[in-house]
Amino acid sequence: MIRPTHLRCEYLVNPLAIDTRHPRLSWALERVDARRGARQTAYHIVVQQADGEIVWDTGRVESDQTTQIVYAGRPLRQTARYEWRLRVWDERDEASDWSVAAWTMGRWGPGWTNARGHDGGADDLPAAAWIGAPLDDIWNERASQPSTYLRKQFTLAAPVRWAVVYASALGVYELRINGQRVGDHILAPEWTDYDTKAQYQGYDVTALLREGENVIGAVLGPGWYAGQLGLGAAFLGIERGYYGRLLRFIAQLHIEGADGTTQVVSTDGSWRYTTDGPIRAADILAGEIYDARREMPGWDAPGFDGRGWQPVASSGGPTLVAQPNEPIRITRTLTPIAVTEPRPGVFIFDLGQNMVGWARLKVRGQAGDDIRLRYGEALNPDGTLYRDNLRLPDPNDPQRGAQQEDHYICRGDGDETFEPHFTYHGFRYVEVSGLRYTPAASDLTGCVFHSSGADVGQFECSSPLLNKIMSAVQWTQRSNLHSVPTDCPQRDERLGWAGDIQVYSQTAMFNMDMAAFFTKWLRDVREAQADDGRFPDFAPHPFDPNARFSGNPGWGDAGVIIPWRMYLNYGDTRILEEMFEPACRYIDWSAANNPDLIWRNRSQLTPLWYGDWLNADTFVDIPGLPRAGGEVPKEVYSTAFFAYSTQLVARMAEVLGRRPEARKYARLAEQIRAAFNREFVAADGRITGDTQAGYALALHFDLLPARLRPRAVRHMLAAMQPYGGGLSTGIQSTVRMMLELTRYGHTDIAYRLINRTEMPSWGYMIEHGATTIWERWDGWAEGRGFQNPGMNSFNHYAIGAVGEWMWRVIAGINPDESAPGYKHVRIRPIPGGGLTWARASYDSIRGRIAVAWSVDGQGVNVDVALPPGVTAAVEIPTSGEAVIEESGQPLERCEGVGRVARGDTSTVIEVESGEYKFRAARQPS
Ligand code: BGC
Repeated sequence: MIRPTHLRCEYLVNPLAIDTRHPRLSWALERVDARRGARQTAYHIVVQQADGEIVWDTGRVESDQTTQIVYAGRPLRQTARYEWRLRVWDERDEASDWSVAAWTMGRWGPGWTNARGHDGGADDLPAAAWIGAPLDDIWNERASQPSTYLRKQFTLAAPVRWAVVYASALGVYELRINGQRVGDHILAPEWTDYDTKAQYQGYDVTALLREGENVIGAVLGPGWYAGQLGLGAAFLGIERGYYGRLLRFIAQLHIEGADGTTQVVSTDGSWRYTTDGPIRAADILAGEIYDARREMPGWDAPGFDGRGWQPVASSGGPTLVAQPNEPIRITRTLTPIAVTEPRPGVFIFDLGQNMVGWARLKVRGQAGDDIRLRYGEALNPDGTLYRDNLRLPDPNDPQRGAQQEDHYICRGDGDETFEPHFTYHGFRYVEVSGLRYTPAASDLTGCVFHSSGADVGQFECSSPLLNKIMSAVQWTQRSNLHSVPTDCPQRDERLGWAGDIQVYSQTAMFNMDMAAFFTKWLRDVREAQADDGRFPDFAPHPFDPNARFSGNPGWGDAGVIIPWRMYLNYGDTRILEEMFEPACRYIDWSAANNPDLIWRNRSQLTPLWYGDWLNADTFVDIPGLPRAGGEVPKEVYSTAFFAYSTQLVARMAEVLGRRPEARKYARLAEQIRAAFNREFVAADGRITGDTQAGYALALHFDLLPARLRPRAVRHMLAAMQPYGGGLSTGIQSTVRMMLELTRYGHTDIAYRLINRTEMPSWGYMIEHGATTIWERWDGWAEGRGFQNPGMNSFNHYAIGAVGEWMWRVIAGINPDESAPGYKHVRIRPIPGGGLTWARASYDSIRGRIAVAWSVDGQGVNVDVALPPGVTAAVEIPTSGEAVIEESGQPLERCEGVGRVARGDTSTVIEVESGEYKFRAARQPS
């Protein structure tokens, strides 16, 4: 028997705002009994409206498909809730019980309203207006202004059967109904190119409304729309207001009464606002100032005297689209492990973990006491807070910096709790001053929040160091998913840097469910594509992608590589369709600008040509390591990416059935490879520059003829010598080198690198207190201290892309390119590096895949569990005459075991779904 679980619509669990007319459904499968070879042979989906009317009944469909099933029933209606039921049959034709889930459609129509304020959209729903305070009340060029509070009272004639509200803002918002916070979203509506579109969110508010008087309210902050934005001040000299200055809010509440009536409450001219509330200033980079003396008890509930509030102003807004990704929400909280007092009255709470979010603080004080919270990632030698790497304003560079500082002004009436609203901070330490007493550690809580795709990867092995590396990798990931994949969460940057997530994306997918997140972000990438086809270096791109920060090799390539990984990991072809034309334009631009197919930056369109960023040539004062010669020449690096992305575009074309394009780009990729070899590869396999990175990239992207590959591997190993056997690679080549070491039989060397604790290494970071991955290999060095604070984050995931190697080689889980979406998986753990065991599980889009192995003096045990419908090639490391058994039985007699291919160093066993316990033992001599 099998059972469907984890029913999702457009990758989301019971979503409340879907605006694609043909949403895709998926489910995972679980085994109910121990039988092997279980699989789905048929499914039956029934979709019905709230009134019971069935809009889609597939009947029994003979199919093993469990993902990407496109809704094909009657047209879906906006704002309607659809319940879907599913049952499946297994290979013995036994039916499962019905499983049930739901989705709610969004509100469509270009912007629910337009600049003239009367576009009701489709289906004649009433319009809603973008409302807020007039400019004079909220705008100041230099400083963040107080939050706008909005409210509207309305009457419901009947009890509520079902109510959904859609809301968005130009700025960020919190929604309130009848004194309660609506939903748990933080920093909604999140970050998009607001000139093009804003996202709206849907909330089920049935339980919050009641017959009689009700109040809906909202609080607005500047967010990405009107606040400070990373790099903007430094590069453009503009401090805030990149997209606009007018904070605006839009909402529409749809209520179905128990008596069958419907009512719609929309933002319009009847709402009122004030800016006299407690949030005096809020900014993502700067922090928040909250004056509790100005709280307005009951403002968001009926019975409040709102006479001092003013009528709202309204203005136009962009197109609205439903948020496709999981919201930013608090996923866990941390309690401090220590509190110190390095200066009298200045307390430092240590959360024991570098994290991202904010602090919640319990205080007691007198009315007007100003409690200051400053956030930082490290301490100075004297125990005070280290904040230099936030690039705080200095006289020479006054416009940079992320203050990361909150203020709470006490009411003075006993126990008070402060938690900010419209900011976020990257920190391990919180410095609190302004208290009249010594606080207890438990007075402060670290609230960790991020875009909340589920944790799907659990990894553990016998090495405490390696476990700490994986933990740091995962913490760095959750620190840098805030609507966009950021480079860092603390300084004045926090941009969706494409190169970092390009190299990290496979690790990201092993650790967390990234499907919905990337669906959102790849649209940001597409919308930020320059007119000539260059993909942006980051997305969204508020600084004009035509003018700057576009087309950098390794960065722009995210627009090709990540869609491809969406296909491999989730079987997503819709994203390939969406990204295919943009990807072709990107390749065509590269080809047009590099007529001899060597990427030379002739057009000078990328004045900041990053290359293999932060390689060993960027180290400062690290004795014993060469000062130059580590960096792969930028032409070699860039041409390698050009060839690889072109190859991927050809494969995308194949998947999409676009034969002419498949041929065109395959031919072009071949020509780029030929040019690469002609220009950079000598007869002995040496690649211009003779760097580790050059070999790693050329091997990883399959650029070399087969006969030269072993030589290139030898040169790559030789290039480690000047570095004492360590790495000289930057962010783009490190994990690729680890993977190539394994591919060419040198996993022992890869293990040596991951176990290393000398600079540069992951172990060095961990041994020096890292709980997240550093931006630079030499972010801090013994005897030297911190690197240049102008660019030195301790929470950057790019170097953490080694997580991919740990997943593929230690856990042994490898998606199979010929069976995307984990229909077939290659399980290939390679013990080594002194490890005695490892166990890992990965919740694939089809269900949980688990691997556990251990070695002892006599042999190796490999346990594998596969969900129904997933088959695997399990590769067991064996030497010579090993005998392999499964649960004590010879393989030939085992249910579920198919073809067995014995090789010199391993045996590959094809298996059907189910649980297996393999043991390969040396033959007794
Ligand atoms: C960011 C990087 C980014 C880079 C571009 C840096 O400032 O923090 O992670 O990829 O710029 O080279």
